[in-house]
Amino acid sequence: MKLATGLWVWGSLLVAAGTVQPSASQSVCAGTENKLSSLSDLEQQYRALRKYYENCEVVMGNLEITSIEHNRDLSFLRSIREVTGYVLVALNQFRYLPLENLRIIRGTKLYEDRYALAIFLNYRKDGNFGLQELGLKNLTEILNGGVYVDQNKFLCYTDTIHWQDIVRNPWPSNLTLVSTNGSSGCGRCHKSCTGRCWGPTENHCQTLTRTVCAEQCDGRCYGPYVSDCCHRECAGGCSGPKDTDCFACMNFNDSGACVTQCPQTFVYNPTTFQLEHNFNAKYTYGAFCVKKCPHNFVVDSSSCVRACPSSKMEVEENGIKMCKPCTDICPKACDGIGTGSLMSAQTVDSSNIDKFVNCTKINGNLIFLVTGIHGDPYNAIEAIDPEKLNVFRTVREITGFLNIQSWPPNMTDFSVFSNLVTIGGRVLYRYVYVFKAAGLPDFRSSTMLIRDNRKAENCTAEGMVCNHLCSKDGCWGPGPDQCLSCRRFSRGRTCIESCNLYDGEFREFENGSICVECDPQCEKMEDGMLTCHGPGPDNCTKCSHFKDGPNCVEKCPDGLQGANSFIFKYADKDRECHPCHPNCTQGCIGSSIEDCIGLMDRYLVCLLPMFFLRGSTCEHWCMCVHATVNGE
Ligand SMILES: *[C@@H]1O[C@H](CO)[C@@H](O)[C@H](O)[C@H]1NC(C)=O
Ligand SMILES: *[C@@H]1O[C@H](CO)[C@@H](O)[C@H](O)[C@H]1NC(C)=O
Ligand SMILES: *[C@@H]1O[C@H](CO)[C@@H](O)[C@H](O)[C@H]1NC(C)=O
Ligand SMILES: *[C@@H]1O[C@H](CO)[C@@H](O)[C@H](O)[C@H]1NC(C)=O
Ligand SMILES: *[C@@H]1O[C@H](CO)[C@@H](O)[C@H](O)[C@H]1NC(C)=O
Ligand SMILES: *[C@@H]1O[C@H](CO)[C@@H](O)[C@H](O)[C@H]1NC(C)=O
Ligand SMILES: *[C@@H]1O[C@H](CO)[C@@H](O)[C@H](O)[C@H]1NC(C)=O
Ligand SMILES: *[C@@H]1O[C@H](CO)[C@@H](O)[C@H](O)[C@H]1NC(C)=O
Ligand SMILES: *[C@@H]1O[C@H](CO)[C@@H](O)[C@H](O)[C@H]1NC(C)=O
Ligand SMILES: *[C@@H]1O[C@H](CO)[C@@H](O)[C@H](O)[C@H]1NC(C)=O
Repeated sequence: MKLATGLWVWGSLLVAAGTVQPSASQSVCAGTENKLSSLSDLEQQYRALRKYYENCEVVMGNLEITSIEHNRDLSFLRSIREVTGYVLVALNQFRYLPLENLRIIRGTKLYEDRYALAIFLNYRKDGNFGLQELGLKNLTEILNGGVYVDQNKFLCYTDTIHWQDIVRNPWPSNLTLVSTNGSSGCGRCHKSCTGRCWGPTENHCQTLTRTVCAEQCDGRCYGPYVSDCCHRECAGGCSGPKDTDCFACMNFNDSGACVTQCPQTFVYNPTTFQLEHNFNAKYTYGAFCVKKCPHNFVVDSSSCVRACPSSKMEVEENGIKMCKPCTDICPKACDGIGTGSLMSAQTVDSSNIDKFVNCTKINGNLIFLVTGIHGDPYNAIEAIDPEKLNVFRTVREITGFLNIQSWPPNMTDFSVFSNLVTIGGRVLYRYVYVFKAAGLPDFRSSTMLIRDNRKAENCTAEGMVCNHLCSKDGCWGPGPDQCLSCRRFSRGRTCIESCNLYDGEFREFENGSICVECDPQCEKMEDGMLTCHGPGPDNCTKCSHFKDGPNCVEKCPDGLQGANSFIFKYADKDRECHPCHPNCTQGCIGSSIEDCIGLMDRYLVCLLPMFFLRGSTCEHWCMCVHATVNGE
């Protein structure tokens, strides 16, 4: 374990926290990622801690308690019930850690890539202050990561704790180290605690919820019998067998019930054979299902996130901010030469070309001078690597002008601008294939000048002509992918002679002059038959796997979420899907109730614990109580 000796100056290192009010009735806060660094002013360090966590119940991030003096009031930490990242308690001098209601540490981030709980060096080197007792009475679950407790000179009872009951990971020695290290004056656990406790009194006994369970329990239990197993979605233990009896949720908390997934955005509609929008859908927000993402969060698929991933952009639909995949490349506006961060620049050069990566719109001008292209020794600017000019391939719009006075001699075309559609507010319509060895004139939007170029007939004489698949509109360079528009058909950006209607690896249909690929679920047809008549799985001539209503599908619905239940279907001999009997809960091989496969989603609680059966119907020698998962 690496240890910091001094106190580092915090300042901008400090990751912003503060409470976020979510739409769930939980009070959620963001946590920090400062590791051992702290503010040099310890008064401020304490106040920051208090500000972040006062009234916070769920820390969506790491809980870091470092460099707190011995006389501070930490009772505000009692509100915390869950931490999604890690808990770090280090370099403190207080006596007691009052995280009494902390039930679960999820360990989605780990300290030093290993520890979900790290408690070390909590004493004053030159004095008698230090951590004596952990108040973690309710801590019964660490979902991921290990525990590190070391060099706490005065800490007692930690070595009596049965950590394997708490930590879910198997117990590799490199994930865990717990030593009390030092203190000889520790008392013993109260006699009612059977040797395991967090502190001296009978209120401090460790509650075991895992190592004491019957073998049949998947996870945790509230008693030693088979009938005392917690629901499999519970974390940390439970007070009864239902998904609403959990102390914490393994996956998601949907209004008090622990569930594997939140109600999905789309549910299967058996009448239309399609996934349809679910008006009861919820989004995942940390370990909660919420009807609406909190302020400042956006919806990405079905989760609330702070910002969209780089391949998506934020759009607002029906008042909801969502991340949508960008077609091609995400819009990104950048400063041009003479604007904003490039205010004082004269030309694109090797020092600033990296600023144009992924730009689709240039606010201002693009200027290429000889000092940029070939370098400027007086200002210690190197020549541009011609390869780098390819960054401009993403540019669609330049709000100012494009001025090319110099260009690398061995780059024989301007194809890096082949996506440029608009300059100075004007749509480019017709460009000819320009190529000149020496300097080039300005070409501005208001007075488009294309002159002093090589004569068209000279280019033609040398075979520098547009590809025969290009229309008369011209091209940026050789090749069928550099045309402005196509003479016959196009596939993506490339001009082609014809679509793959009857042959080829993948089959297409024609929409005007555009070749569009058939749905992957369509069976590839031979003998002059079209594979599909349109996009989508309902336009196939024949299905390659199964058919559900009008749609070709990979497999028949097999536990798809419907509006009120899960939908199961079976395939008949013609590979068409038909619904199972509504009482089937696990699929079927035919339409009658006799064809159902199992009743897996029902609890079978045998009255005699010895005859507990799971995933099968009850046999005659034991009486069973049926209860469905949904509590029907
Ligand atoms: C701990 O969990 C129990 C439920 O098992 C709860 O009743 C209690 O209030 C929690 N907090 C403390 C400090 O014991
Ligand atoms: C712990 O040890 C196991 C095998 O002993 C190894 O695979 C794993 O990478 C180690 N983990 C860490 C965090 O060092
Ligand atoms: C205990 O503390 C000493 C220094 O005081 C240290 O060398 C040692 O590694 C610590 N840990 C254990 C498990 O003894
Ligand atoms: C689920 O969330 C509700 C508040 O939305 C809370 O009262 C309840 O304790 C939570 N249940 C679990 C098991 O975490
Ligand atoms: C450019 O876009 C690609 C793909 O979306 C992404 O992986 C990359 O990180 C982006 N680079 C910059 C500098 O934005
Ligand atoms: C152009 O020339 C430079 C060296 O001047 C070389 O590194 C680069 O690979 C050449 N590019 C092409 C497309 O030939
Ligand atoms: C174009 O070709 C003519 C002869 O066909 C020649 O005289 C002239 O120099 C050429 N111009 C360029 C710019 O190459
Ligand atoms: C054909 O293309 C047009 C315009 O691009 C589009 O609106 C239409 O939906 C397409 N039709 C099919 C069947 O893909
Ligand atoms: C594709 O299928 C849809 C739905 O069945 C239908 O409305 C549409 O007309 C079909 N398109 C073509 C080009 O056949
Ligand atoms: C299907 O289940 C319902 C409710 O559990 C029950 O009333 C009905 O008799 C069952 N149908 C058959 C055919 O078993």
